Amino acid sequence: MGRCLHKNCKWIPGLAGLPNAGISVTTTSHNDRPQYGASKPKAADDFSASFAQVPVGNLTEVEAATELSRLAALLTGANTAYHRDDAPELSDAEYDAFKSRNMAIEAAFPKLKRADSPTEQVGGAVAEGFGKVQHVVRMLSLGNAFDDADVSDFDARIRRYLGMETNAPLVYTAEPKIDGLSLSLRYENGALVQAATRGDGAVGENVTANACTIADIPQQIDGAPEVLEVRGEVYMSHADFSALNERQAASGGKQFANPRNAAAGSLRQLDAEITRSRPLKFFAYAWGDLSAPLAETQSGAIKQLAAFGFSTNDLTVTCDGPQALIAHYHMIEERRATLGYDIDGVVCKVDNLELQRRLGFRTTTPRWAIAHKFPAELAWTTLDAIDIQVGRTGALSPVARLSPVTVGGVVVSNATLHNEDYIAGLGGDGQPIRDGRDVRVGDWVQIYRAGDVIPKIKDVDLARRPDNAVPFVFPDVCPECQSAAIREDGDAVRRCTGGIICPAQAVEKLKHFVSRAAFDIEGLGAKQVEQFYQDGWIATPADIFTLHDRFGSGVQQLKNREGWGEKSASNLFDAIDEKRDIPLNRLIFSLGIRHVGDSSASLLANHYGSWVAFETAMTQAEVGTGAEWDALISIDGVGAVMAASVITTMQQEAERASIDRLVAGLRVQDVAAVTSDSPVAGKTVVFTGTLERMTRAEAKARAEGLGAKVSGSVSAKTDILVAGPGAGSKATKAAALGVETMDEDAWLALIGDA
Ligand code: IVH
Repeated sequence: MGRCLHKNCKWIPGLAGLPNAGISVTTTSHNDRPQYGASKPKAADDFSASFAQVPVGNLTEVEAATELSRLAALLTGANTAYHRDDAPELSDAEYDAFKSRNMAIEAAFPKLKRADSPTEQVGGAVAEGFGKVQHVVRMLSLGNAFDDADVSDFDARIRRYLGMETNAPLVYTAEPKIDGLSLSLRYENGALVQAATRGDGAVGENVTANACTIADIPQQIDGAPEVLEVRGEVYMSHADFSALNERQAASGGKQFANPRNAAAGSLRQLDAEITRSRPLKFFAYAWGDLSAPLAETQSGAIKQLAAFGFSTNDLTVTCDGPQALIAHYHMIEERRATLGYDIDGVVCKVDNLELQRRLGFRTTTPRWAIAHKFPAELAWTTLDAIDIQVGRTGALSPVARLSPVTVGGVVVSNATLHNEDYIAGLGGDGQPIRDGRDVRVGDWVQIYRAGDVIPKIKDVDLARRPDNAVPFVFPDVCPECQSAAIREDGDAVRRCTGGIICPAQAVEKLKHFVSRAAFDIEGLGAKQVEQFYQDGWIATPADIFTLHDRFGSGVQQLKNREGWGEKSASNLFDAIDEKRDIPLNRLIFSLGIRHVGDSSASLLANHYGSWVAFETAMTQAEVGTGAEWDALISIDGVGAVMAASVITTMQQEAERASIDRLVAGLRVQDVAAVTSDSPVAGKTVVFTGTLERMTRAEAKARAEGLGAKVSGSVSAKTDILVAGPGAGSKATKAAALGVETMDEDAWLALIGDA
């Protein structure tokens, strides 16, 4: 292993002797990679096809809410597929892109941030079969940097937060981001007592027996603190991965898509003897619960872990600022192919642990660290066909079917084409994209996946265009039900007008109905709904609630269907019954009304309070006029487009009949008042003047963490003004409005931080 020659990078002694040094590199072929598109959720295509190409700054609030809702569903599904099922549906770069997009929209529309926001989630749900382990210290994720400028911003953000000058010394560590799965090892009095996967960050799986089979993991440590939780990455080297897949092929076993899946699949074996036969390795890079500090710095702690006998990565260095971090990143990037194991970026961390403590955490990521990811790749391939998919609201989404090509380590065979303008070479703003070049079946197209929504077609090679290639004619009838597909003024998307007679819309509506943020019925997912629809067992959501009556006994019974049995059928009937009690917001969201995502559904539910109040108002309302209309659009977050969509849907005869049939079988729960333990939860707080014991950013983050809303200005809605020395007009205004005012010490006492 070589060394970084950058003058500002210092090698951390004690880290030499990389366990994989000398391992030969085996490049993986296309077939070793997951087939992007084979298992990719259709929602990803649907999603990419609508707003995804609109710059965040151009989104309306309604579009942003809709997009956040779809991103939540998409990313939650992808998390479960990746973390729990070891079967990724999205490539890493694509996942990052969707996540970045979600974060950018949340930053632009903070009040639309959802309770189930993907930025609040780490990892996926715990699989059945392993015991559960509650992590004493949560296992978190890392924020991403996609380019050098993001790293400089990371440094600037930290300095701002800590109130440090731009040129004050600030040391970081930089180390490879290992592409495996994280593991937390708990030692008590030096003995390994528990090993747990990350799970959802709070609760992981108990894999102690399996971890004990990994040679890199010491089972006994000399001189360790009484309690020591070591965290790091379980991974498989390229050489071991290839050999494992060869052995699997010879024995007719499962082929692993990549080393990370092989590592995850091998660690999460209920039979630890299988894990023992798999060549897993472990790098230590962090810690959780500790009875005594390991060191004063990150680099010191890593040295200590190495002294305890853990493998630590010998490409770990300290850097004295963002330029050195960037230089080290580029050095590692150059060596990436020769390391012998997969890495997907470089992790930068503040070295001083007291500063790490002060910087603290956002909901799921530390402020003191960032993952500087390697860029997405580009690849050329041919466009073999353009298919049109029909979504829940009738949107016709064109999907590019490609000759499979590897992009960033994943075989891509589909890409979004968004809409007809995009195919024709026009962006969402009506301006040319690809210099106005259109895309035709038969074209050579360049695919990319980057820190944006993807994969997309970046370019078309006109020189290689076949002579017989013709411009794509976008259909004006729905390919599923042959109803007219029309494009309304101002809508980039063409939509099927078939409503519930369109089978594609009906199935997508049903899938939406059973999705996680809607009815979330255990045992009734997209696959089951699709099969039941195809067999004529359910056509609308109301039919789900009569399944038991129709197929619980008699000639055709659920328990006799392929893939079902006595137990699973009775479990499903129970799960359906359980959901007859449904909160109003979920019910409104589940109806799949265009422009109503789940945060908008909550706004409507909170405003009307009960189903009766909501449906009465919507029945009486007239689009654009009258008291009901005024009340509807007076809800903060509900605009005219959404309001019109809700009224039209609730008054559309067939649709309404189907909704009424559904509600007749339910017990809808009215909206209850929100309660919370924190003394400042739900309060609006304003900070003014000089804060002496924390920076403004720290104060804001802490208050928000306790459920308060932090505002920049005093108004009648302000509950508390925290005024430091030098408070001026805000304090005067607060006094005039009778707003409770306190100093910093009183505030800290109130929130229990004194
Ligand atoms: S530090 C508080 N360092 O990346 C954050 N993580 O995307 C602690 N990972 O869950 C994580 N190499 O599984 C850290 N050198 C490294 C890493 C690393 C890989 C993984 C880890 C983490 C994920 C976050």
